[in-house]
Amino acid sequence: MQLNEGLDVEEGGLYVERDGLLKIVKRADAIIPDLTVKVDGELLDAAGDQLKVVANFAVGYDNIDVNQCRKRGVAVTNTPDVLTDATAELALALALAAARGISGADRFLRDGLWKGWQPTQHLGLELSGATIGVLGLGRIGSRFAGMASAITPSLLYTSRSEKPELENELGIVRVEFEELLARSHLISLHVPLTSETHHIIDAQALAQMREGAVLVNTARGELVDTDALVAALKRGKLRAAGLDVFEGEPLVPRSLTELENVVLTPHIGSATERARNAMAELAARNVIAVLAGEAPLTPV
Ligand code: NAP
Ligand code: GLV
Repeated sequence: MQLNEGLDVEEGGLYVERDGLLKIVKRADAIIPDLTVKVDGELLDAAGDQLKVVANFAVGYDNIDVNQCRKRGVAVTNTPDVLTDATAELALALALAAARGISGADRFLRDGLWKGWQPTQHLGLELSGATIGVLGLGRIGSRFAGMASAITPSLLYTSRSEKPELENELGIVRVEFEELLARSHLISLHVPLTSETHHIIDAQALAQMREGAVLVNTARGELVDTDALVAALKRGKLRAAGLDVFEGEPLVPRSLTELENVVLTPHIGSATERARNAMAELAARNVIAVLAGEAPLTPV
């Protein structure tokens, strides 16, 4: 909305092919990509020297080659904070749904298989009193931990830096990654995708997790080795997983979709009207600021 006032806006639309993208960005002063758009040297070159800002419509910016942008003096911005509540809520929803097997129970009922109440049917993991581990106690991880603290007092986290205020506020305890894996009944991933975090949950990490633990991923699919996860879910090493993000999405392998003990959502972490409107507003304000020669509001 704001952008149409005084600026020419060229929309690529969803699912635009790479060739189309390379044409659309030509002579642009600003690009607003979503997280599916790879912004690399080729795209920046196609845009041209006048390009001033890449304002990502997402908080994660692993789709952007930030170094290539910096080399060309192009500012990079993202949309932090405004989607924190929405994404943390989805992580909590997936945690509860996976722990209690809600998707499987729902399918069971719809398929007409319910013959009546039974004392041992659909037994799940009770999160009250369970130990919940948070990998990455940043904006979303700490909001998730705050919500989880209403369910259980036993919270652990692993993050690059210490968070003494959150430790005091939530009673959450900082541990090494190996301890997080070994002690948590449920682990929720909230780190960005980087070369350090790619496949941070691999076969070895899964082997170190508790028997019957639950994994929740609302961060990025590439944090988890999918084949290793499927194997762990199949043999019951993991009780269940709640996943909003996938390696190579939007393709989700049959090996995952055919499992009963997974809850799968199509990358909808920030998909609330409140969050998406605020993301759009923030991306637009970043563009307007940079084009006016001002500092961006939320630089990367
Ligand atoms: P953030 O505030 O930057 O938090 C990331 C946290 O991860 C920080 O606490 C950081 O530690 C920690 N971290 C980074 N690298 C680490 C490593 N190698 N080991 C341990 N901890 C590490 O980011 P955010 O706003 O919470 O967003 C997190 C991610 O969620 C985004 O990058 C995005 O990929 C994903 N996301 C997904 C959706 C969705 O729709 N599913 C929506 C929004 C975001 P320090 O605090 O010490 O720097
Ligand atoms: C969504 O995945 C985001 O990073 O905002």
